[in-house]
Amino acid sequence: MTNVADYSEKIPNNVELREDRRLQRALESWQPNFLNWWESMGPTLPTQDVYLRTAINVGRQGWAHFGHVAMKDYRWGIFLAERDADRRIGFGEHKGEPAWQKVPGEYRAELQRLIVIQGDTEPASVEQQRNLGATAPSLYDLRNLFQVNVEEGRHLWAMVYLLHAYFGRAGREEAEELLHRNSGSEDAPRILGAFNEETPDWLSFFMFTYFTDRDGKYQLGTLKESAFDPLSRTCEFMLKEESHHMFVGTTGVDRIVERTVGVMLEKDTDDVAGYGVIPLDAIQKYLNFHYSVSLDLFGGETSTNVANYYTAGLKGRWSEERRKDDHRLTDDSIMVDSLIDGDIGQTEVAALIGLNTDLRREYISDCRNGVNRWNKILDEAGLQRRLRLPSVAFNRKVGAFAGIEATPDGQKLSPDEWQRRKGEWLPTDVDKTHVRSLMRPVHERGKIASWIAPPRNGINNQPFDYDYVHLP
Ligand SMILES: [Fe+2]
Ligand SMILES: [Fe+2]
Repeated sequence: MTNVADYSEKIPNNVELREDRRLQRALESWQPNFLNWWESMGPTLPTQDVYLRTAINVGRQGWAHFGHVAMKDYRWGIFLAERDADRRIGFGEHKGEPAWQKVPGEYRAELQRLIVIQGDTEPASVEQQRNLGATAPSLYDLRNLFQVNVEEGRHLWAMVYLLHAYFGRAGREEAEELLHRNSGSEDAPRILGAFNEETPDWLSFFMFTYFTDRDGKYQLGTLKESAFDPLSRTCEFMLKEESHHMFVGTTGVDRIVERTVGVMLEKDTDDVAGYGVIPLDAIQKYLNFHYSVSLDLFGGETSTNVANYYTAGLKGRWSEERRKDDHRLTDDSIMVDSLIDGDIGQTEVAALIGLNTDLRREYISDCRNGVNRWNKILDEAGLQRRLRLPSVAFNRKVGAFAGIEATPDGQKLSPDEWQRRKGEWLPTDVDKTHVRSLMRPVHERGKIASWIAPPRNGINNQPFDYDYVHLP
């Protein structure tokens, strides 16, 4: 095993693919299907080349190379984090045993399912974002969009590698299916709800990369703990790339808030829609929407499947090694959100059963950091107004609160009241039309759209007015 990728191969990799001819051939025959998918379902804006980072190494330093490349020639590769030969399983009934280098027969179906679900989200987001290039607010943002897109494409490769290498024919069939399902499709939609929603504008894109890519971070964090070592190492490296996606979301919303606040102060009004920016009310509604659909991605508050995954060692907790308990959890309990006589409350359940809740709570506290950061911009401008995360009961379609409606404050509402008032909290057609009316492309070097502030820094120490993308 080497860290440095082999780029002389058709498929760049650090898994010594050439040592396994059968696997190499299987992946090489999947490659044209992937490229067809990229051509037909990937970014629609034609470009000459884009200033992209390409993974070349999994070590601590200098893992990526930056340069202008034509997107169809991007080198999607297979990279696993370095192997720790002594790695031991950190939790569950196999705790302390050596990590698995092969898939144990008894867990084959479950592991395959976990990999397919993760894999399905990666190309889904590329599909959701495919038309955004046409309305990019700057070349800097356009480049970031494409960077996220090519890396989600690489994450698909990461999961397809595992399916091909460890799951035989069934795995190869699943790899094909990952290209056949499409976001929002009637006949063959993506597996998870949030990945069938549209990403029609850049406010949605930044909220998606903040909230929904962050869900991805937490899912990958649990798979990084897996006893199945190749899955663990794959996810560890994906997390490295993922942090840039969330940076795009965090700073994207920063820059929108900054611009809106600037105009609010200048015009001395909250009602700034007429001045070519996005009012705070609309930002809050988009936040409410993306946060609530992302909470659904964590599944029900209780789950026996997830308890079994944990006990078997397939999927751990966020920061498993930092938890101060026995890492088996057979005698522990947790309070989970639940409906009690129809009201929003909590109940105590076995810790193993409540693992989805544990993960969702880690996620929620991470989400708060962004909101605090955006609120600092409001605070420093001397404004009273604050953004906030809505209640866990708000706008949920999965879990304990799927059957009820609630305000962002967590007050239960009747279905009628919800219908009457939901436009106060979720984007209405008026909000969406306004946001979309601002989405006019700024594809000129060094220029930026009216509704967003320029970034503080460029990419890889380049200035904001760098030629990040060459259009035809
Ligand atoms: Fe990803
Ligand atoms: Fe991502």
